[in-house]
Amino acid sequence: MRILGIETSCDETGIAIYDDKQGLLSHELYSQVKLHADYGGVVPELASRDHVRKIIPLIEKAMADANTTPDELDGVAFTQGPGLVGALLVGSSVGRSLAYAWKVPAVGVHHMEGHLLAPMLEAEAPEMPFVALLVSGGHSMLVKVEGIGQYEVLGESIDDAAGEAFDKTAKLLGLDYPGGPLLAKLAEKGEAGHYKFPRPMTDRPGLDFSFSGLKTFAANTIRDCDGSEQTHANIAYAFQEAVIDTLIIKCKRALKQTGMKRLVIAGGVSANTMLRAQMKSLMTSMQGQVFYPSLAYCTDNGAMIAYAGMQRLKAGETLALSAKAKPRWPLDTLTAV
Ligand code: KG4
Ligand code: ZN
Repeated sequence: MRILGIETSCDETGIAIYDDKQGLLSHELYSQVKLHADYGGVVPELASRDHVRKIIPLIEKAMADANTTPDELDGVAFTQGPGLVGALLVGSSVGRSLAYAWKVPAVGVHHMEGHLLAPMLEAEAPEMPFVALLVSGGHSMLVKVEGIGQYEVLGESIDDAAGEAFDKTAKLLGLDYPGGPLLAKLAEKGEAGHYKFPRPMTDRPGLDFSFSGLKTFAANTIRDCDGSEQTHANIAYAFQEAVIDTLIIKCKRALKQTGMKRLVIAGGVSANTMLRAQMKSLMTSMQGQVFYPSLAYCTDNGAMIAYAGMQRLKAGETLALSAKAKPRWPLDTLTAV
C-alpha cells in the first residue's frame, strides 16, 4: 500500500510518499523560517499563504521523485491538528480534495502522533510499549504508549513548551528565530559552573513540566550580565543544562512509574546533541534503550504524517468529507488501531 502524507500545521510544508513494503519513497520539505525570522516568531497568516504557494509544487515533486502516479496511491494523509488553524486548513483542503478526486480514502493525522511514531521509520525501530518524551516548539509531554492510538498522557507542560523556552531564551540572547539550534550551538562554547538555573517542578511529585520560569530567570540573568560573548555562551550552557536535567529527571520518573525500559524521544528538541548524549547515559544506567527519529524527522516533516496515516489507513480508518481541521485535539482522545 502507498500513501501521500501532507504536513502543514505550523511553518513547514512537508510532503512524503510512504510505501508499507518499500518504506519512504520520497520526502520534500520547505521551511518558512526565513519568512518569519524578521518577526521573531511564526506569523499565522503569512504561514497559511506560504503553504498555499508551496504545497502543490511540493506534492508534484514528491510524486515525481517517488515515480508514483495517483492511481498507485491507496490514500492521502494530512495533519488534521493540532496546530495553526489557517495552516491546517491548507493541508486539509488540498489533502481532502486530492483524495476525493483520486477516489481514495483520506486520513486525518494527529501531528503529535506523527512525531511519536517518527522513530518507527528508522531501521532500528522501537517495539511497543514504550514511554515517549515529545518535545517540540508547541508541546512538551510524556506519554505511555501501549500501541498505535493507545496513548496515556503522563505529564505535560503547564505553560511554555521546551522548544518555546529555547526560542524565547535565544531571542533574549540576541539570536535569530528559531533560536533553539542556535542556542545549542552557542552553549557548546559555554563553560559549566558559572550560572545555576532552577530545575522547575522537579522537587515535587508528578510528571508535568513548567518552562516559563526558566525564561524569566534567563531574562534577569542576561539583564544583569556583562554582555560579553563568553558570558552569553555560559548562560546558554546553564539554560540548556537546566532544561535537559529537568527532562532527564521526569523521564526517569516516568520509566520507574510505568516499569518500562524503552524511551522514545521525538519532536524538534530531540535534535539537541547534548540531550541525546545525556539521555543515552541515563538509559545505559537504567539498562534500557533510547530511540530517536533521524535528524531530518525530528522537526516537522511529511514522512511522519505519511507513516502515521498508513497505520490508520491499514486499520480501515477514513475521514468523512465534512471533517474539520482541529486546532486543538488532545492526544489521548485518539482511537486505538
Ligand atoms: O517539532 P517542531 O519542528 O515544531 C513543532 O511541532 O513545534 O519543533 C521546533 C522546535 C523549535 O522550538 C526549535 O527551536 C526546537 O524545536 N529545536 C531545538 C533544536 N533543534 C530544533 N531546540 C534545541 N536544540 C536543538 N538542536
Ligand atoms: Zn511538530
